[in-house]
Amino acid sequence: GKVRAPTHIISTISDDRGEEPCYAGVPMSTIVEKGMGIGDVISLLWFKRSLPRYCTQFIEICVMLCADHGPCVSGAHNTIVTARAGKDLVSSLVSGLLTIGPRFGGAVDDAARYFKDAYDRKLSPYEFVEGMKKKGIRVPGIGHRIKRGDNRDKRVELLQLFARTHFPSTKYMEYAVEVETYTLSKANNLVMNVDGAIGTLFLDLLAGSGMFTKQEIDEIVAIGYLNGLFVLARSIGLIGHTFDQKRLKQPLYRHPWEDVLYTKQVMQWPMDAS
Ligand code: ACO
Ligand code: LMR
Repeated sequence: GKVRAPTHIISTISDDRGEEPCYAGVPMSTIVEKGMGIGDVISLLWFKRSLPRYCTQFIEICVMLCADHGPCVSGAHNTIVTARAGKDLVSSLVSGLLTIGPRFGGAVDDAARYFKDAYDRKLSPYEFVEGMKKKGIRVPGIGHRIKRGDNRDKRVELLQLFARTHFPSTKYMEYAVEVETYTLSKANNLVMNVDGAIGTLFLDLLAGSGMFTKQEIDEIVAIGYLNGLFVLARSIGLIGHTFDQKRLKQPLYRHPWEDVLYTKQVMQWPMDAS
């Protein structure tokens, strides 16, 4: 019989060997003929299945709402400085992308992990938040530099509205709202941010759609798929910022000295630089 040589790579998401490429078994012509969108393509390539319309719409809304947030945020700032240093598109893009992490845009997975754990263990908001404080961990998905209890993040409200209208259950997000009520009683900047909204609502999507087993959900959360949504979305804006700087023929950026505190005096080391 035939002897199958061991392969060096295992891959399961797309295949271009036939007449036309297939994403998770779905031919490209079907994707085009059926008028599928980017949410469907993400479903096929990331989750390896066709998800119901409300799920793919939710994914698309996440991508649209996180595409950009002005020139002053970490990612855009890096991209602008890099583009102004004369670097190419890819360098400017990745320079911005590299800022995405636990403080900026990359708290989606940890928000899903911590909120899921707390909800599943039936912790009260008080127990959850104070437990995190004891461990010295800021609650991922809570807090914002400029948004406040009396100036909420519109993106969060739009995502919540969509999910409350279309999802069978929003239990994880509603739990996050209870947590937010508690954190807001401590400080006015401790609102649910867009990472927290996407993280908890994606838990609701995974659990409520009936398309994923419990084991698959645990794996998606453990691997950390959800920061990918922010990375993908913000790439759109960062590419835009690169083109913008080039079109405006902006010169090399140099930060104004007036904005720097330079001191030769020995300063006390910050106790917590996390
Ligand atoms: N959980 C608990 N306490 C918090 C949190 C939080 N998530 N955020 C702030 N605080 C409290 C802390 O007591 C903090 O004091 P500390 O420095 O001694 O820890 C105090 O509020 C003051 O916080 P600031 O440092 O002034 O808040 P800042 O405006 O610098 O931080 C940030 C904003 C980085 C978003 C912060 O709230 C945070 O780390 N949140 C968790 C990570 C997160 O969700 N990031 C995504 C933000 S949304 C986005 O980037 C698209
Ligand atoms: C963003 O989406 O980039 C913002 O929420 C971050 C910020 O600091 O405004």
